[in-house]
Amino acid sequence: MGLVFVTRRLPGDALERLSAAGHEVDVWEERLPPPRAALLERAGQADALLCTLVDPIDGALLDACPRVKTVANYGVGYDNIDVAAATARGVAVSNTPDVLTDATADLAFALLLAAARRLPQTAADVLAGRWGTWEPGGYLGHDVAGATLGIVGAGRIGEAVARRAAGFDMTVLRSTSRAGTPLPELLERSDFVSLHVPLTPATRHLIDAAALRRMKPTAILVNTARGGVVDTDALTAALHAGTIGGAALDVTDPEPLPADHPLLQAPNVLVVPHIGSATTRTRTRMSEIAVDNVLAGLAGRPLPQAVSPPMPSPTHAA
Ligand code: GLV
Ligand code: GLV
Repeated sequence: MGLVFVTRRLPGDALERLSAAGHEVDVWEERLPPPRAALLERAGQADALLCTLVDPIDGALLDACPRVKTVANYGVGYDNIDVAAATARGVAVSNTPDVLTDATADLAFALLLAAARRLPQTAADVLAGRWGTWEPGGYLGHDVAGATLGIVGAGRIGEAVARRAAGFDMTVLRSTSRAGTPLPELLERSDFVSLHVPLTPATRHLIDAAALRRMKPTAILVNTARGGVVDTDALTAALHAGTIGGAALDVTDPEPLPADHPLLQAPNVLVVPHIGSATTRTRTRMSEIAVDNVLAGLAGRPLPQAVSPPMPSPTHAA
């Protein structure tokens, strides 16, 4: 029987299955993640860790937690975990893929539509009493139907976005490290660019100043992947200079952005608080998957959703 440190309260009752199997469960009850010292102390006692994507898990932490042999990440992205360091120490790592694909693709499409039709600005005008009357030239946005969507990283979520785009009669371009449209060409041709790569050393700042310069002056960048895939300073500059049309972001770097960050003051920017998987059903299923993996790890079985270290790649990976 093992001790499981869970770094946050989870939706649903999946943790009860750990207790029912005879394991002890220690849940961090605060709203903010455990600070490093608390993580070291509580994980130091544990046999398995159920952590979230905002908990950094590195070799030094694992060295301080010699009994931990299983790290189950609550989230599909696992850039918070040094998987190579874990593997070197015989620690298995899992994530929660598949169950959040549709929720995240829905949010990417919601952001795309909201930015195209200027929903944040127009709704704010209504709320503030600034909307006077219907006008032929008022609040003009961009057509989504028939537009070209560039999907960067055509994995599970990218392909789910492509399926939604088909319903909007969009032309879809895909760019991956191995196939599809070369990224520079995708950036030049797309009216909307949606990012779906994991954050790895190869994809950090994939969208930098040079990439942004290739985009159309009307193009909208959608990011539901990881903030670090985009160079925040370059994006802020491009939006203020109007060299791209807008950005709709579920993720930023840093996260959260300080309220006075110049990116938030840029025209046509929409930022939501990392809610890609945030539906009741999806987050409940993520709890179940994370617990399945912890149970497997504590029983000495292979983790059903085991991940491996990101492959070193000269370009970006899907
Ligand atoms: C959310 O960002 C996730 O990776 O699950
Ligand atoms: C718009 O509301 C229209 O009727 O064209």
